[in-house]
Parts: sequence; C-alpha cells; structure tokens
Amino acid sequence: MSLNIIGMGKGIPKKQITNGEIANYVDTNDEWITSRTGIQTRHVCTSETLSDLAATASLEALENAKLTVSDIDLFICATIGGELRTPSLSCTTAEKIGLKCTAFDINAACTGFAYALEVAVGYFAMGKAKNILITCGEMMSTQLDWNDRNTCVLFGDGAAACVVTPGDSMRYISLIASPDSTILKIPVGTGNTPFLESKVDEPYLYMQGQDVFKFAVGVCDIEVSKALETLDLAPEEVDWFLLHQANKRIIDGARRKLKQPEEKFPTNIEKYGNLSSVSIPLLLYEMIEEGKVKTGDTIVLSAFGAGMTAGTAVFKWQ
Ligand code: UT7
Repeated sequence: MSLNIIGMGKGIPKKQITNGEIANYVDTNDEWITSRTGIQTRHVCTSETLSDLAATASLEALENAKLTVSDIDLFICATIGGELRTPSLSCTTAEKIGLKCTAFDINAACTGFAYALEVAVGYFAMGKAKNILITCGEMMSTQLDWNDRNTCVLFGDGAAACVVTPGDSMRYISLIASPDSTILKIPVGTGNTPFLESKVDEPYLYMQGQDVFKFAVGVCDIEVSKALETLDLAPEEVDWFLLHQANKRIIDGARRKLKQPEEKFPTNIEKYGNLSSVSIPLLLYEMIEEGKVKTGDTIVLSAFGAGMTAGTAVFKWQ
C-alpha cells in the first residue's frame, strides 16, 4: 500500500519578470538565458508572502479533492524556508486556512516533493493518517543575490499542493542523499552574535553551476534507470517523464540517455524558471488541468537538489 493523489492546487505570485527585465538588474540578456536554460519568464513575490501562496495552493488542492480542512490529519510542507525560521511554513499556512492537525516542514531542497511523498507513505503505513496535505512552497527571490547574474536569472517563486490518501497509484519511490555542501548552498544569517570567530558567508544562494549540472544529468540517468529496472519497465512504456525543472539542457541530456521523444518530457521552466521543490508538483498539476494525464498512464517523477539529494517516484495514474 502506498498512496494516490486525489487533488492538486497551485499558488503563483502575480508579478512576472521577463529575461529582458532582469537585464535591468544584472549584465545579462534574453538570448543567453533562453539558450542556456530554457527560461523565458519567472514569477516573484511582491505583496504576497510564501504562506499566502501555500494557502492558495492548499485550498485549491482540498477543493479538487472534495475535502475540507477538517478531513486532513497531517500537513507536510516541503520548502527551503518560509518567511519565518520558526514557526514552520506548515504552521503559518495552517493558521491561514484554519487547519488544525500535525504539521511540519521538510527541507530536501528541490527534491522536497519526493521526500514528502515518502513521509506520507510512512504515516499511512503506521495507520496515523487517512488524508495528508502536501504543500511545496518556495520564495527563491528572497534568497538570491540580485547582483549575481550566475544565479538570479534562474529561479522563481510559487507553491503547489496535493492531497494524498492510501492507495497503490505510486508504485515506486527512492530517495538518496549524496552529501556535499560545497557546490550548492544557501547560508543562513548569524544574527548579531559578538562571539563568532570567523566570518560567515552572505545569506545568498551560491552555486557552482557546472558541477551541479553534471550531478543532475548523472543522478537522473542512474535513478530513473534503477526505477525502470525495478519495475521491469522499458522507457517506451512510460507515458510521461516529469523531471526537475532546473535547466532545459539537463532535461534534454536525460532524455537523450533514455532515447525517448521530447513530447514525453513536458516542461514549465520557460514560464516559471526553477521553482525548487514546487517544479514537479506544479508540472503535474498543469498536466492534469490540461487533460493530458489519463487513467493508467505511467508517470516517472525525478528530482535532484541541494544536499545533494535526489528522489524518483513512479505512478500508475488512477
Ligand atoms: O535546482 C537547483 C539546481 N541547479 C541547477 O541544476 C543548475 C545547474 N547548472 C546550470 O543549469 C548551468 O550550469 C547554468 C545555467 C547555471 C550556467 O550555464 P553554463 O553553460 O554552465 O554557463 P557557465 O557558468 O559556464 O558560464 C558561461 C559564461 C561565463 O562567461 P565567461 O567566463 O565564459 O566569459 C559566465 O560569466 O556565461 C556567463 N554568464 C552569463 N552571461 C549572461 C553566466 N550567467 C550569465 C547570465 N547572462 N545570466
């Protein structure tokens, strides 16, 4: 017994920024960003908080699942960080939507959705939950150095949510962590302690892009192949590969290794940029809304992120 996804939702900030507008802040241009990443626009918070976006996504997921907050007995948020260090994003969001149940955050960076799915399966197995709300929310715009063209062009803000119940739609899940805090990290501030002896890094996202790129293409190939082998599936039998939306060239690299057509690898990176843990559930939401996902479809989800972490899940859609 694992889980079924029975309703999904999204929360996207109003303000959209084109590549051309980013050129007002750093020395960049649309041609570089589009050709190197596939990103054309991203949304960023202005008046919205992250818990506003998470609340919008959560309420829509509940409505689509035909449930109310009183039906939910566990709330998991996947996020790199909410607007507060504490309370958690799950608590600030629960406060907004009137949800009262066990609530906590998990941080597995861009792999957060896969980690949350595995935690949900564990709660179902313990018999401690019947309906679980999983909400991924990221406000990357506040964690970037807007003077650094290597990183500020890549990310966006948003939230995506789903309600899960016990079921057997998810046929496989595997999570890995390959610890390395040198190639992708976001340092935290240190308050005004007078005691620290060494200077700490600025609290902005730092990334060695090419090392992360190599990790991503390699881990995606290995982990997706492992999933298919475990389920005795050929790549041809998979209807959709929903990969983390970090760079269109990473998706193309993984696709070439699997020798599968481009139509099987939908993207939303062109509209949203990299949304960390939100990328994959938002893509799944859009595919469902557009009527593309059909009952019986085989869907592979594959994410990677800071940690370094990676997670792969396979669904036979119900
Ligand atoms: O979900 C989190 C995980 N993150 C990722 O998966 C990101 C993985 N990495 C990547 O997607 C790519 O490595 C990047 C998109 C970050 C960078 O692409 P790249 O092809 O690896 O470029 P690069 O870092 O090697 O930079 C090439 C050139 C440099 O100029 P020089 O030294 O050759 O003169 C950069 O300074 O491009 C320059 N550059 C830019 N130029 C215009 C870097 N960023 C920009 C920019 N606009 N925004």
